Amino acid sequence: MRSAGPSREPSSGRRIPLERVPAPPPHRLAATWRQADPERIEACLQHAQARDPGGWYVAATSADVAAGTSTVRDVAGQEVMFWRAPDATLHAGPGACPHLGARLDGCPVTGSVVHCRWHGLALTPQGLPDWRPYPAVDDGVLVWVRLPTRGETAIDQPRLTRRPPPAQSVAAVIRLRGRCEPQDVIANRLDPWHGSWFHPYAFSHLRVDEAASTYDTLALDVTFRLGTKWGVPVRAEFSCPDARTIAMHIVDGEGAGSVVETHATPIGTDHLGAPVTDVIEATIAHSERSGFQAARRLQSLMRPAMRRVARRLWVDDMVYAERRYELRAGERGLRLLRHEVTSPDARHA
Ligand code: FES
Ligand SMILES: [Fe+2]
Repeated sequence: MRSAGPSREPSSGRRIPLERVPAPPPHRLAATWRQADPERIEACLQHAQARDPGGWYVAATSADVAAGTSTVRDVAGQEVMFWRAPDATLHAGPGACPHLGARLDGCPVTGSVVHCRWHGLALTPQGLPDWRPYPAVDDGVLVWVRLPTRGETAIDQPRLTRRPPPAQSVAAVIRLRGRCEPQDVIANRLDPWHGSWFHPYAFSHLRVDEAASTYDTLALDVTFRLGTKWGVPVRAEFSCPDARTIAMHIVDGEGAGSVVETHATPIGTDHLGAPVTDVIEATIAHSERSGFQAARRLQSLMRPAMRRVARRLWVDDMVYAERRYELRAGERGLRLLRHEVTSPDARHA
């Protein structure tokens, strides 16, 4: 299946997942700018943007919404409260109390009822005439909410990404904030060619398999680096189930079945009117190796390492995404991001 990459023996016959794959020194690294065709990236982005999310946004991790208390998140310029019923069913509603507007964060929950912490107004999953609940879904790793969204047609369920079985995988989630729009986050991932140049500590031997790729799916061979000498070569595919999500599935090699789901959630605007977007990324690792099942028992040790890897990449990639937004926004966008615009009409940039 692989069409390129370092020479190696099949991973299934080896006892450890690592292979000796020396990273090319910087002066031997082949330029990828010819392959990273701006029109091609834009065409992939347009295909992704045409996929209507149906009003669904990833707002939090499942663990963020604990029993017995409410949690508020900002999503698409709105405050949204989440809470759980005694059977762990997720509920959501506006994050401002209909009485005097208290932010409904950290309110006590008894049974299925949230009690506003200012004066105890009872808010139930049935709602009130001036406080209507929102549809919400807990997919086992992430929490979604559906909000009325201009240009999107509401659908019953979010478009979930294919994942490995929960009992045979380990999930870790990171969240990172940037001043850009969701499309800038998606566009970053639709340019896999930057991988071995912009993240040489993480990737090498990256080659997009053009024959196997379309505007909807990018297929590539890449080696995940573990130092300069060792790596894990895999075959991966990027695809966008909706306009705010891009998933990378490992389809061959070590960890086949694993997925990295990157969700771009618009939060609102900052004090200068620049858009604020959160990257909420779930890495769901899976392996057929018996050793992986043993390692699963040490999930609490695996998760911080998984988060470290994902966060380091996104610290870089957010620079890319914010820069892309700057360029799209033109001169005014540049001044906004550099805090050079302070007038009230900055909000309309
Ligand atoms: S503000 Fe919520 S009950 Fe008064
Ligand atoms: Fe990147």
